[in-house]
Amino acid sequence: MNQPDPSGSPPASDSASDSASDSASTSARPAAVEFRDVTKIYGRGTPREYVAISHVSFTIPDVADHGEISSFLGPSGCGKSTVLRLVAGLEPQHPPTSGTVTVLGRPVIGPGADRGMVFQDYTSFDNRTVLDNVAFGLECRGVSRREREAEGLEWIAKVGLDPRRDARKYPHELSGGMRQRVAIARTLILRPRVILMDEPFGALDPATRLDMQDMLISLWREVQATVLFVTHSVEEAVYLGDRVFVMGTTPGRIVDEVRLPSPTRNAREIQSEPWFHEQVNALHARIEQVEAAAKRSPNGASRQIQAG
Ligand SMILES: Nc1ncnc2c1ncn2[C@@H]1O[C@H](COP(=O)(O)OP(=O)(O)OP(=O)(O)O)[C@@H](O)[C@H]1O
Ligand SMILES: [Mg+2]
Repeated sequence: MNQPDPSGSPPASDSASDSASDSASTSARPAAVEFRDVTKIYGRGTPREYVAISHVSFTIPDVADHGEISSFLGPSGCGKSTVLRLVAGLEPQHPPTSGTVTVLGRPVIGPGADRGMVFQDYTSFDNRTVLDNVAFGLECRGVSRREREAEGLEWIAKVGLDPRRDARKYPHELSGGMRQRVAIARTLILRPRVILMDEPFGALDPATRLDMQDMLISLWREVQATVLFVTHSVEEAVYLGDRVFVMGTTPGRIVDEVRLPSPTRNAREIQSEPWFHEQVNALHARIEQVEAAAKRSPNGASRQIQAG
C-alpha cells in the first residue's frame, strides 16, 4: 500500500491495473466483494425500462487482518446506490439482471449477517431509545437483555456518544451527527465483515463531517471490515479510501479505479496537505471529464441504453 511521502509530495496513485497484483497476492482468499459483468435494468420489458448500470466489474480484495475502504464517486444517478444495494442483497436492486455479485466468495442471494448498511437518512426507530436502537440487532439475534445492553453501552461510547447522558434519549432528541453515530453503532455492533455506507455523512455540516470521518477510521481499524463508502465529496473519498472507484453515467459503469494511502493522521491534518489537494483536483478533473463525455454521448439525452 502506498504511504504519503513525508516530504509532503503526492503519493503515487495507481490505476486499476493494481487490482491484478492485489488479486494475485490474496489469491488464496476469496475477494471481499466482486462484481462480474453486472448489469441492472429496472422495469425490464416495460415502457419504463431503464439500464442503471451496465457490465460493471470490480474486485475488492479481502485483505487479511485489515479490510479496505473503497470509496465510490460519480454523478448523481450513475448507480452508486444500486451497486451498494446489490451487495446488500436488497430489492429491487437485487437480483442483478445479469452478471454475478459475490461477497467473500459466495454469490449474494439476499441480505445477510456478513453485511451491514448505513444510509444517509437517519434510519433509527423513533420509538426506541438510543440504547434500544443500538442493541436492536442483538435483540433480533436473541441475545439476553443484560448482555445486549452492556454491549450497546460500549458501542454508544465507541461512536463518541455519552452512555450516561445519551443512552435513554430518543432519536428526535439528537442532532443529525448524533443520529448518524447511533446508526453506525447499530450496524457495527453486529460486526459485519462488509460495511456498506451510502452517503452517511451527506447531511452533516463540514466540521461534524470531519469528526465523523475520524471516528469512522478509528472504528474501522478496530473492526477490520471491508467498507464500501458512497459519497459526493471528493475530499471525503480521497481521505477515507484505500481505493476510489469513479463511476460514469449513461449507463452507470466504473470508469476509473485509483489506489490511495490509508489515512495515517486525522482528517483535518491530511486534508490540508499538498498531495491531498493534488489528488482531489485530479479526481475532480476526471469526474468533469466523465460528465462532459456523458453530455456528448448520443445516448445521453434519454439515458435509456440497452445492455449489450
Ligand atoms: N427502483 C428503481 N426503479 C427504477 N429506476 C431506478 C430505481 N432505483 C434507481 N433507479 C434509477 O437508476 C439510476 C441509478 O440510481 P442510483 O440510486 O443507483 O444512483 P446514485 O448514483 O446513487 O444517485 P445519487 O448520487 O443521486 O444518490 C437512476 O437514474 C435512478 O433513477
Ligand atoms: Mg444514491
